Amino acid sequence: MTEKKPKAYPAASLPLSIAAVSSYLDTTVLGSTMAVVNTIDSTNKYIKKNISVLDDGFTIVAEKQFSGRGRLGRTFESPEGGLYMSILLIGRELIENVDSVTVRAAVAVKNAIKELTGLENVGIKWVNDIYCEDKKICGILAERIVRKGYCDFSVLGIGVNVTTPKKAFEGELSEIAGSISDFTKVDFSRNELCAAILNHLEKTLFVTDKDESTRILDDYRDSSVIIGRDVYISNGEKTVRAKVLGIDDLASLYVQYEDGLTEILRTGEVSTKLIKGEDK
Ligand code: BTN
Repeated sequence: MTEKKPKAYPAASLPLSIAAVSSYLDTTVLGSTMAVVNTIDSTNKYIKKNISVLDDGFTIVAEKQFSGRGRLGRTFESPEGGLYMSILLIGRELIENVDSVTVRAAVAVKNAIKELTGLENVGIKWVNDIYCEDKKICGILAERIVRKGYCDFSVLGIGVNVTTPKKAFEGELSEIAGSISDFTKVDFSRNELCAAILNHLEKTLFVTDKDESTRILDDYRDSSVIIGRDVYISNGEKTVRAKVLGIDDLASLYVQYEDGLTEILRTGEVSTKLIKGEDK
C-alpha cells in the first residue's frame, strides 16, 4: 500500500471555522458576526442579497467560490487553497471618498500578509491588487450601495491565493497570478490570515484623524509596485503604454504617455498591467 504524502502546508490546509478565526481576532466591529461556508457563488453577492438582515462588520468566509467576481466585471478564480472573504460596512460615507475603502483595505491586507509571512516584497498594484514580486496574490473588490449622494453600505471582498495550485490559473491569468506559497515555506492557517486581515482593517478603515489618514496613504504610495514603471493602461476599448509618475492625494494615478502628455487617472474604468522584465 502506498503511504499518503503529508500535506506540504498542514496549517494552511486546516478548515476554516468561526471558532478558529475568533481565537485570533482583536476587533470590536469587524467579524463580530460571522459565517463560514464551504462553497458559495460569491461572498460579495451573499452580503448584497442579505444586506437588510446583516450587522455592521458581518464577515463571510468561504473555502471556495464558483462565481467569484473581480473589478470591472471580471471573473475571480476561487478554487480550494485560497481565502475568500467579504465584509459588510454600514455607514454614510460621501461618495467623493469612495476610493478610500479600497486604498485603506489594500494597506491593511498588505500589512496582514507581511506580518504573517515575514515576506518583505509584498506590495500594492494600483488600485486594488496585492502583489508579491511580479505576481498577483490577492485581489480586493469594494462595492458600494449609493443613495442620494451618500454611500450607505460598502461590501468589501478580499480573495487571497494562499496555496492555490498553479494549474488553477489558466491562459493570461497564469502569467499574472501566484500564491503566497510560491514565495515562502512559512505555514499559517487561513483562519489566522482572516483574523489578521480583519485586525488590520479595523486599524485603517475607521481612521478619521487627518495625520493618520495621511500615514495610510503614504504607506499605500510607499508600497506601490508601479510607481516609476511602465505599464499598459486599458479602458476596455484601447490599451496604451505609459510611465507611472505617482499617486496623488485622492489615490489617482499620475501617468505620462509615450508622446509626453501626462494625465491623472481616477480608478473608475481603468486597469493597469505591469510590463514584465523591466526594473522598477
Ligand atoms: C479583483 O481582482 O479584481 C478583485 C477580486 C476580489 C475577489 C474577492 S473573493 C471574495 C469576494 N467575493 C467575490 O466574488 N469577489 C471578492
